[in-house]
Amino acid sequence: MSETAFNPVPQHIAIIMDGNGRWAKERHLPRLAGHNAGAKAVERTLKAAQKAGIKILTLYAFSTENWSRPQEEVTGLFKLLEQTLDRYTQDAAKHGLRLLVSGARDPLPPSILAKIDHAVSSTQHNQELTLNLALNYGARQEIVHAVNALLTQGKKQITMQDISAQLYQPQLPDPELIIRTSGEERLSNFLLWQAAYSEFYFTPVLWPDFDEAEFNKALLAYRGRKRRFGGV
Ligand code: IPE
Ligand code: IPE
Ligand code: MG
Repeated sequence: MSETAFNPVPQHIAIIMDGNGRWAKERHLPRLAGHNAGAKAVERTLKAAQKAGIKILTLYAFSTENWSRPQEEVTGLFKLLEQTLDRYTQDAAKHGLRLLVSGARDPLPPSILAKIDHAVSSTQHNQELTLNLALNYGARQEIVHAVNALLTQGKKQITMQDISAQLYQPQLPDPELIIRTSGEERLSNFLLWQAAYSEFYFTPVLWPDFDEAEFNKALLAYRGRKRRFGGV
């Protein structure tokens, strides 16, 4: 590593996997073909992260706003998700992969919920890499959920620690780095609380084209950033 490496390898990287639709459009393919190609990019990224020594990867798979897409796309996305979950659950032990899922359970179909629960419980002791899948995830919803939990406890005044303790995955450290592909430069309701001091890395690469080389570019950029946390 060059002398510009200010930071050690991050523990936790979060990724907004964007651009599947545009990737498909460029090829005159249906949007679902882009999502299928995106699932392959997820596998490459998991391998790259593990190789780089990352301990936690949070991947934004489906936002609370993504329900507004055409029914056919939503159904296809959930079918793809079920297949991916099945495969990961089978291979998880081999790769030391622990699965967590963050998001609202409410409108998810029971078949998906059962698969999620099985995947989470059967991988809970794996220790190499934690894959935190943000699924039906919205950061504002997460914060409201946390505050409601505190109200239920009868709290009249709350602290930052109280809110942090009620997030979907309170045990995870905040991501040091957030990557977004496809050239969009916004959070789209992702990790609003946890991103307070995250570094951002935006790349025009569309998610289905994301690979180990792109992952390492982001990592290198992060390592060269001077993080100040409000200090000098
Ligand atoms: C990201 O790709 C995947 C999901 C949001 C599920 P998009 O489907 O948003 O791709 P674009 O932004 O239309 O290219
Ligand atoms: C964010 O991407 C959600 C996921 C990657 C799952 P979107 O494509 O939904 O975000 P917007 O609509 O461009 O902000
Ligand atoms: Mg998009």
